Amino acid sequence: MHHDSTVIHLRNGGTSVIIDLASAALPAIVYWGEDQGDLSGDDLDGLVLGSLPQRVSGGLDRPARLSVLPQESTGWQGTPGLSGSRNGLFFSPALTLTEISSTSSTLTAHATDPVSRLALRADLAVDSAGVLSQTLTVTNTGDDHYDLDDLCVTLPLPASATEILDTTGRHLRERTPQRHAFTIGRHQRDSRKGRPGADSTLLLAAGTPGFGFETGLVHAVHLAWSGNHRLAAEKLVTGSAFLQAGELFAPGEIRLAPGASYSAPTVIASWGDGLNDLSARIHTRLRARDNHPASARPVTLNTWEAVYFDHDLDRLTQLADAAARVGVERYVLDDGWFRGRRDDTAGLGDWYVDGDVWPDGLSPLIDRVTALGMQFGLWVEPEMVNPDSDLARSHPDWLLQAAGRLPVEGRQQQVLDLSHPDAYAYILERLDAILTEYPTIGYLKWDHNRDLVEAGSTRSGAAAIHDNVLALYTLLDELKARHPGLEIESCASGGARVDLGILEHTDRIWTSDCIDPIERLTIQKYTGLVVPYELMGAHISGPHSHSTGRRHDLSLRAGVALFGHLGIEWDIAALTDDEYTELTGWIELYKANRALFHTGTSVHADHADPAVDLRGVVAADRASAVFVFTLASASTFYPVGMLRFPGLDDDRRYTVRLVNRDSTGLGNGQSPLAWAEEPVTVTGRTLRTIGLQGPVLFPEHLAVFDITSV
Ligand code: DGJ
Repeated sequence: MHHDSTVIHLRNGGTSVIIDLASAALPAIVYWGEDQGDLSGDDLDGLVLGSLPQRVSGGLDRPARLSVLPQESTGWQGTPGLSGSRNGLFFSPALTLTEISSTSSTLTAHATDPVSRLALRADLAVDSAGVLSQTLTVTNTGDDHYDLDDLCVTLPLPASATEILDTTGRHLRERTPQRHAFTIGRHQRDSRKGRPGADSTLLLAAGTPGFGFETGLVHAVHLAWSGNHRLAAEKLVTGSAFLQAGELFAPGEIRLAPGASYSAPTVIASWGDGLNDLSARIHTRLRARDNHPASARPVTLNTWEAVYFDHDLDRLTQLADAAARVGVERYVLDDGWFRGRRDDTAGLGDWYVDGDVWPDGLSPLIDRVTALGMQFGLWVEPEMVNPDSDLARSHPDWLLQAAGRLPVEGRQQQVLDLSHPDAYAYILERLDAILTEYPTIGYLKWDHNRDLVEAGSTRSGAAAIHDNVLALYTLLDELKARHPGLEIESCASGGARVDLGILEHTDRIWTSDCIDPIERLTIQKYTGLVVPYELMGAHISGPHSHSTGRRHDLSLRAGVALFGHLGIEWDIAALTDDEYTELTGWIELYKANRALFHTGTSVHADHADPAVDLRGVVAADRASAVFVFTLASASTFYPVGMLRFPGLDDDRRYTVRLVNRDSTGLGNGQSPLAWAEEPVTVTGRTLRTIGLQGPVLFPEHLAVFDITSV
């Protein structure tokens, strides 16, 4: 921090953020990116002066500089940072800085507009991982209400950013990447589904042309919020380019009473030389949290694809016995255990153990599971209600709706209004009662299987998505406070509620309902831009994928699931001896390497051949790594050629060993790869820049490499 200057230099974790206090009404970030070193006050003043916007013919006399909250009142002609009105008036705020405080890595700015009667607080911080976070709060200082339409964080991009990357998706194929030219105009991703949604992007990234995982300057934002939101990248004719992120409101949803404030969700922003670097900062930030799961992530068996709604104690007990035999550590009973839930058309809301299916309650199964040394987990979907349930029949006013009509159903479901105090109290009481009756339940799989539409409160008549997200966060925290050690998974049909807001209150996400390993390569790669492997559920399916109809060898199913919090979703009660031996081997491999996978740096190699997928995790001390090369489809090339392994220490020597020679398809009449017969030792620089000849694999097969420094 430099008090002798009107420029503030925040530095931490290899990142610099340089903020000018003088050239705009509000603080202006003039630089965000690689650490600029220890700059003097004069250097900083020079940097600001040298980058002032320039007046041009046909333009305004005082060109606006992009600030933390760009305003039309300063001449800003791009999308503003705040929109709203007071009964249709005061549409253009003119907030000016009143107070600033900062440390070497944080800045808090206060601003007011006495005419529009608004106050703003902006909190910026650069953490030790080099991630920039920003939170905005706006307060109505007037004596009538203020309708807030939009409040978003705005961050500048360098001129080199000419390409955008975001993700789209749908159920069973979440996080599909898409790229666009970043031209003049606005690329905006809205989520209007009451949850982020299967198609929501975790990051909106902009960088140099063709930026990849290994190289290319790239900046990105994420919004830590589990409801409607908007991420955008915008470029103006002035050359000003920026990212914006904020919550998306329904009309009238945020009406601020006199004195009331709205705090926007925190925006997480990262940059990198390549996406590996950008993601590593976010992963490091998450791992530094006090509430980050620290214990070894237990091998999980989830009953869903094994038995679906067939809740038969004998069958589930046999599954538990088989699970314990192969090394499972957590057994999760999925959908179907509660009253009236024989299929997905009825029962949601009636959170009592079904006496017909479970005449002695859940104890017989739970006791067996715990006696076998496994933890017991239970599926719930607390925000959802089937119209065919006692809850819906007795409390129709607890359902989210608009103008007296119920929304279009999704999976035969309506949505409970958790912002209704009685509905909230009911759900809290039910979940608490179950966790109290069965105190060994250590894990809830928290599902949420429909998008919200017309989500209004019957009490106020107004849209209530914002209030429901906050009520959900409170509910999750309350349950964890009452049941210390309880872990919760954010499921949402797999991948439809993945964000760093929900991950402040839960312990992992269910990445996708699709566990076909070929699909999972893409889904996990792009989910991993934000979510580290220890928070990402990855299960080994049965031989036949229930969501794509494809069949795969166990080695592919298991090798891909290593990159995550590993589980099994397969009826393993009747495995052949060979399957049992092979599955046990993969679980042992996971257990032997999970500390590495869950604390190391995730890397993806850029490769010109779309059939080649090479990903790895490098230990924090770079003494070891595991890489997996998957031939996702038949390659044009035969053999595939050289594979480069990024992320290791250039100056160390490493031994590379192929772990799963028997399951790769190697030796298929081809001349065997010399180094696959015996380990090879080379330098980290060789691995990064030259690489090793990739083994010949069958398509849809993979090779696991163990890499250790010598
Ligand atoms: C969707 C989830 O993603 C599945 O894993 C399963 O729990 C079903 N819901 C149950 O209804």
